[in-house]
Amino acid sequence: MTTKKLLRALAGEAQPTPPVWMMRQAGRYLPEYRAVRARAGDFLSLCYTPDLAAEVTLQPIRRYSFDAAILFADILLVPQALGAELWFADGEGPRLSPVTTAADIDALAEAAAVHERLAPVYQTVRILSRELPAQTALIGFAGAPWTVATYMIAGRGTPDQAPAHRLKDEAPKAFDRLIDRLTGATIEYLSAQIDAGAEVVKLFDSWAGSLAPADFARYAVAPARQIIAALKQRHPGIPVIAFPRGAGSGYAGFARATGADCVALDQTVAPEWAARHVQVDGCVQGNLAPRHLIGGGQALIDETRAIVRAFRHGPHIFNLGHGITPDADPANVRLMLEALADA
Ligand code: CP3
Repeated sequence: MTTKKLLRALAGEAQPTPPVWMMRQAGRYLPEYRAVRARAGDFLSLCYTPDLAAEVTLQPIRRYSFDAAILFADILLVPQALGAELWFADGEGPRLSPVTTAADIDALAEAAAVHERLAPVYQTVRILSRELPAQTALIGFAGAPWTVATYMIAGRGTPDQAPAHRLKDEAPKAFDRLIDRLTGATIEYLSAQIDAGAEVVKLFDSWAGSLAPADFARYAVAPARQIIAALKQRHPGIPVIAFPRGAGSGYAGFARATGADCVALDQTVAPEWAARHVQVDGCVQGNLAPRHLIGGGQALIDETRAIVRAFRHGPHIFNLGHGITPDADPANVRLMLEALADA
């Protein structure tokens, strides 16, 4: 049996102190990240320069000894590898050449073609699997098809994912082809990350919460099930974490329906509810509100302890409900870790 705490939780073990890592743990709240980011020039160059991407992945591990490192990359590298243009306008977030017609979708590259463009990401994984401390698990990741499609169709982030909903409702055949194309590319991409040394993979469906129940089953559950089934066939024993953010009551049964080994919870679900309705099926991850790492203080300590206590009878990975924000105070991360050790 592995001694890595994160892998033990994913195998179903309840631990007195849960393993911990944070979404966006390599990021702008860390001065050492901002320094390397400035050296790289821009965000995408950082993603595609293996030595620098590995360096920023390792920074939060050195500082906080988290139980897992998450590969430094981005979910939007896949659309770029499929042929979309991608750039990051400083302070404005991602921009892509929009994919809005059946012809745009048919012009995208085949799934297996992603490897050429994404080879530097696999190289980052190889460096990390060599350099990480023995007790630290390495997590690879990709965006889930629905979430990636929302960015591709709008050409940018949107508050309500309206352009993707419109294409789904008005041109369902074309939309389904896009989801299928992304499902295939995601299987290839995650499989190659595992071949390079990722020990766990995570599927980020950040906008799953905007899907009504029937669409949630079709565009969040079904693609996740397909991706996980293909990965389990190729790489038995590699655990998968699924994050259908905003799923609400849809979190119940999600692990069973998709085959995920762990479901990541956002901060809108009560830990006591999730312990009863989600953790019954296996490991859960989450779900401290990221704002506590801005505010800190007793609220951070109390919330951290309440989450640990609610999940203490089953397998749990402590994490945030979403990514840590650039205005978070690195000292509050330390406070969170102390509260965790002493819950
Ligand atoms: O978690 C980590 O530390 C690993 C790296 C990682 C990044 N993005 C780096 C990043 C991961 C796992 C992601 C996932 C990601 N990217 C998601 C899913 C998770 C979520 O947050 O919901 C999404 C939707 C994206 C797309 C994306 N990338 C957006 C919308 C933005 C702009 C918003 C922002 O936070 O700036 C990015 C940029 C991005 N990805 C940054 C980082 C560290 C900031 C860029 C910078 O340094 O300038």
